[in-house]
Amino acid sequence: MSYLSDLVEKSKKARPSLSLSSKGKTEEELRSLLFTPPERAGEAEALKAEGEDALKAILSKPSPTPSSDVGAAISADVYKTTAELEEKRELELAEEQQREFEKASKKLVDSYKGVEIYQIAGDPLLFYKSDIVKPSLSERRIINTVREAATRLISIEPYEIRDPVQRKKVYLSKVLDIIDSAAADIQIPKTKREYFAEAVVREMIGFGLLDKLLEDDKLEDIMVIGENRPVYVFHRDHEMMKTNIVFYNEQDILDIIDKVARAVGRRIDRADPLLDARLPDGSRVNATIPPISIGGATLSIRKFRADPFSIIDLLNFGTINSELAAFLWLASDGMGVKPANVLIAGGTGSGKTSMLNVLCSLIPESDRVISIEDTAELQLPIQHWIRFEKRLPSLEGTGEISMAALVKNSLRMRPDRIIVGEVRGEEADTLFVAMNTGHDGSMGTIHANSAAETRVRVITPPMSVPESMLSGLDLIIVMQRIHLREKGTIRRVVEVAEVSGVLEGEAHMEVIYKWNPANDSIERTSLSSRYLQRVQDYTGMDRLEVEKELERRRDVIVEMQKKKIRAVLETSSAAKNYLLGRIGTVRAE
Ligand SMILES: Nc1ncnc2c1ncn2[C@@H]1O[C@H](COP(=O)(O)OP(=O)(O)O)[C@@H](O)[C@H]1O
Ligand SMILES: [Mg+2]
Repeated sequence: MSYLSDLVEKSKKARPSLSLSSKGKTEEELRSLLFTPPERAGEAEALKAEGEDALKAILSKPSPTPSSDVGAAISADVYKTTAELEEKRELELAEEQQREFEKASKKLVDSYKGVEIYQIAGDPLLFYKSDIVKPSLSERRIINTVREAATRLISIEPYEIRDPVQRKKVYLSKVLDIIDSAAADIQIPKTKREYFAEAVVREMIGFGLLDKLLEDDKLEDIMVIGENRPVYVFHRDHEMMKTNIVFYNEQDILDIIDKVARAVGRRIDRADPLLDARLPDGSRVNATIPPISIGGATLSIRKFRADPFSIIDLLNFGTINSELAAFLWLASDGMGVKPANVLIAGGTGSGKTSMLNVLCSLIPESDRVISIEDTAELQLPIQHWIRFEKRLPSLEGTGEISMAALVKNSLRMRPDRIIVGEVRGEEADTLFVAMNTGHDGSMGTIHANSAAETRVRVITPPMSVPESMLSGLDLIIVMQRIHLREKGTIRRVVEVAEVSGVLEGEAHMEVIYKWNPANDSIERTSLSSRYLQRVQDYTGMDRLEVEKELERRRDVIVEMQKKKIRAVLETSSAAKNYLLGRIGTVRAE
């Protein structure tokens, strides 16, 4: 009691802030708490600068001095009891879930650090089991007490220290201070100081239950669909799965959503119940709350891939073969003279953006690259790169900056390469103007299932590109996500097509590479490539020399594959160096 009242007293001095532990309050209270931005103490302003000085300043700042208030201490005690009942209920539900899992007939299909993946009889989805431990009731009591104190005493906004590692360090040291200063009152054994500090920090600045999932690099998406329902994940190898992670209290989901909103300086409330944001680490978060999401708050996280795919990865996956890899590589730099204008077509999740990223990583360093994306996803190992992302209109319908406006503007920036992620509307017209006016090596992705469908989509509304302009397009690469019984989900380039010409206003397509489903291989058709002909025209190389060039590149690729060189940085610089060497010799020849 003495410790608790001391904390409450201290907290009176501290700034009012959003209480993370909001159990036991009425819904109205919760909403007003959740959606009221916390007052910013002066300290917050001082911390705008992110350097070491700022960190030191936080660390050395003394905690607020206590004053006495017995009333607050009593109400806090009641609050604690209600919260504990809720904790108890959640713990029981979690135990019940665990018992059900143990009873089920199941088979372990995969396991790695902290994760087990099971096939459960009768369930079409696999089950993802994280080794997350739910603290016992007595541990929970300590965590809550420390967390409440820390929430009131530490007045740093999480986004003030953007580097997550630094941020965690600062919080840990502050929370350890709090634990130590209260060591006499709350019996925390010395050996468990760190355990409790970690748990508290995770709840304060992490994403609580989701942290474990966020740490798993094999997960691509994390999906929270409401309370009392499992969190779903999309796994790189096992696709959609249910997890053993369940929020038994909607407020916990709302707390996480609010944290995200604050991290990006936005708010979400009943008037504006949608949040689409990119976190500082590059992950994308979409959150919805009632009234629009009828079943309660939802959260979808598309995780940032720290290590993007390289051309060698695509080869290893079987998405392309070494011959096609050499061809696409040549198309990306065009011997430094005639890079191909490319559209990458495919359905959702077929690997279009990944393929675009791979091709862009092979662009020579001498080119000025401007990318325009719907949502910024590209990660290019390129120095001279300017990236744009479209801006949605505000609630009042103002302030929109469309893809079309950005693509148009990019033309005024003396680009060598215009890269458009997700061509959907009017911007197509500008992209095709670029392709037809000497901005060779322009590339984009488009939602279409074949080269023929790509043509139709491009020439009909809302893109409405005059069909004659299709002649500026060199290649259409068609990607597909395919489910095979033996291999599971695979992604393949199923077609590489060229616009062979526009006759009487109609564009004619020729497929030069085709995927053969019978033996899962990519085959060159007998048709000759118009793009290679163009490379000959521009470089003065003859047919045989171009063929030799492709063979050379194929050797380089196979060599890298053998040596297990795959990181995009390495493959990209190998490709750039190769080209520098080759241009020297070709010019000398
Ligand atoms: N060639 C590939 N082989 C295996 N997985 C891939 C491949 N390309 C992409 N992926 C994975 O598939 C998902 C969707 O890829 P993405 O490139 O974003 O597709 P799209 O842009 O077509 O929606 C990503 O999570 C990515 O990691
Ligand atoms: Mg995409």
